[in-house]
Amino acid sequence: MIEVKGLTKFYKQIRAIEDVSFTVEKGDIVGFLGPNGAGKTTTMKIITGFMPPDSGTAKVAGFDVFENPMEVKRRIGYLPENPPLYNDMTVNDYLRFVAEIKGIESKKIGEETDRVSESCGIKEVRKRLIAHLSKGFRQRVGIAQAILGNPEIVIFDEPTIGLDPNQVFEVRSLIKELAREKTIILSTHILPEVEMTCRKVIVIHKGHIVAKEHIEDLLRRRTKISEMTVRVKRFSIELMKQIKDRFDVKVNQPPEMDNGFNIIFESPEDKREEIAKYIVDSGFGLLEFRPVTLSLEDVFRELTTEEKTA
Ligand SMILES: Nc1ncnc2c1ncn2[C@@H]1O[C@H](COP(=O)(O)OP(=O)(O)OP(=O)(O)O)[C@@H](O)[C@H]1O
Ligand SMILES: [Mg+2]
Repeated sequence: MIEVKGLTKFYKQIRAIEDVSFTVEKGDIVGFLGPNGAGKTTTMKIITGFMPPDSGTAKVAGFDVFENPMEVKRRIGYLPENPPLYNDMTVNDYLRFVAEIKGIESKKIGEETDRVSESCGIKEVRKRLIAHLSKGFRQRVGIAQAILGNPEIVIFDEPTIGLDPNQVFEVRSLIKELAREKTIILSTHILPEVEMTCRKVIVIHKGHIVAKEHIEDLLRRRTKISEMTVRVKRFSIELMKQIKDRFDVKVNQPPEMDNGFNIIFESPEDKREEIAKYIVDSGFGLLEFRPVTLSLEDVFRELTTEEKTA
């Protein structure tokens, strides 16, 4: 559905993205994840035909974004980083205005603005001035303009930034709702957002793609079986020392842990069974013995270290 190949873009001497390639299949919900300045907005602006790349190509439904811009724009709804809202218009006037620009037949405009207002939950604010809306409602109006004309693909650039937790929840639910029938790319620097809304993730860092995978695979990276956490009923430093010496492993006790410690295996040999047995047999009262789970932030940090490339 979307095919991006070797995109590179410079802003004067600043290289914003380099050799960015990925594909998005019909029906995918893809999280485009990266820290500030990674190149998310730049990539989205190119896919949506907002600006050309210095090299590389982007195709949407088989049409080149710059050779057939109209065919592409017809198929894409875009919520930019700063939604293009006009403060002195009412929501209704604004939606009608966008519908006209999008070339929706005038006799269908009423029906279409009703439809998007309904699905974005903005019916009750349609007569209000955009300037008077809360941030969450402004964002919904932004989403409503993106899905006017019922495009097959919707691209959201940081759709929940600056919203309060309730608004975040509502906007995410709305996106999930849309995902039933559309292909979606959503950029964010918030990992849990990807986990909650997307099925696939593309991680971009300093202009390079560093990972493309299914969410389940990303989550699987959270489990590190080369590190185990042990918790016991009767903790003593002696136990840590015994494990270290007997099994030739590293041990460390994180500051917040007072009844246990972590074991780090440096050889590939699986010593888990023996260690568990040893702790049980020596009477420390084994309570817990499990692989260390990285926080999502740790996974993100691992993915965005310098050396790694996809
Ligand atoms: N118009 C511009 N002129 C000069 N440099 C720019 C311009 N737009 C972006 N950049 C630079 O290009 C790089 C990528 O920026 P981009 O906006 O694509 O990142 P982003 O991933 O969207 O970041 P954020 O999470 O902050 O929105 C950054 O180093 C940024 O400073
Ligand atoms: Mg951005």
